Amino acid sequence: MTNGPSLNASNASNASSNSTFARVPYHVGIIMDGNGRWAQARGLPRLMGHRAGVNNIRRVLEASVAFGVKALTIYAFSTENWARPQAEVSGLMKLVGESIRRQLSELHANGVQIRHSGRLAGIEPGLQQQIRDALELTKNNQRIILNVAFNYGGRAEVIDAVRHIMQDGVKPEEVSEEVFARYLYTGGLPDPDLIIRTGGEYRLSNFLIWQAAYAEYYATPTFWPDFDKEELRRALQDFADRDRRFGKVKIA
Ligand code: IPE
Ligand code: IPE
Ligand code: MG
Repeated sequence: MTNGPSLNASNASNASSNSTFARVPYHVGIIMDGNGRWAQARGLPRLMGHRAGVNNIRRVLEASVAFGVKALTIYAFSTENWARPQAEVSGLMKLVGESIRRQLSELHANGVQIRHSGRLAGIEPGLQQQIRDALELTKNNQRIILNVAFNYGGRAEVIDAVRHIMQDGVKPEEVSEEVFARYLYTGGLPDPDLIIRTGGEYRLSNFLIWQAAYAEYYATPTFWPDFDKEELRRALQDFADRDRRFGKVKIA
């Protein structure tokens, strides 16, 4: 990632960006799938695919800034992914720690606000601290929000919200959709407008199950490490061409 493209302002403003699309999603969620198959197709170990996948985040983040996306939620590790072979899990954890160490200062310098969606409990204490430090350092940045869904499960998120609501003594009649949404990990963040899944599957795999109620879905067979700016452009174009009705009828 050290050789990744620059996130600096001049670079971003070069892009034909905002005028490219009639409508740009404010918040995009990405299910970054296909790292393992990307590696296997090259005769490489799965972990090499994860390394290539982590490296690709920077490229897509930069493209998102260029296109005018304001928040990007990336699905990096699910609560179900703990069930993978121990060597893959520990390799992934190492990669995350390494990439925070390598990239945090540059992300911060470029105005990226890092958020975390998921349970910190269960993550190795040193990595928990790195995550907390990254959130604290970047909390006032405004250019783009990079929300990392890590040790994330949509069902766990709903359970955690219910627990906190009860702990706060909120009365049953006070629980509305708005109040509930504030207790989710994504509290304060608008719902995703577009959910992209790479790697060819057509499922949510426990990603943003509450927040994606009215998101548009876009699936591509491209494996995550190969998902580039042109692929993102295609997804955003597809989104711009959709007709979002939110259950209403369109008045001609
Ligand atoms: C997504 O890639 C990354 C994580 C789930 C951590 P996969 O590792 O699921 O790759 P495939 O789906 O096996 O190819
Ligand atoms: C979803 O991918 C989770 C992440 C991308 C982090 P998976 O590879 O874990 O999902 P399934 O197993 O295909 O549903
Ligand atoms: Mg997968």
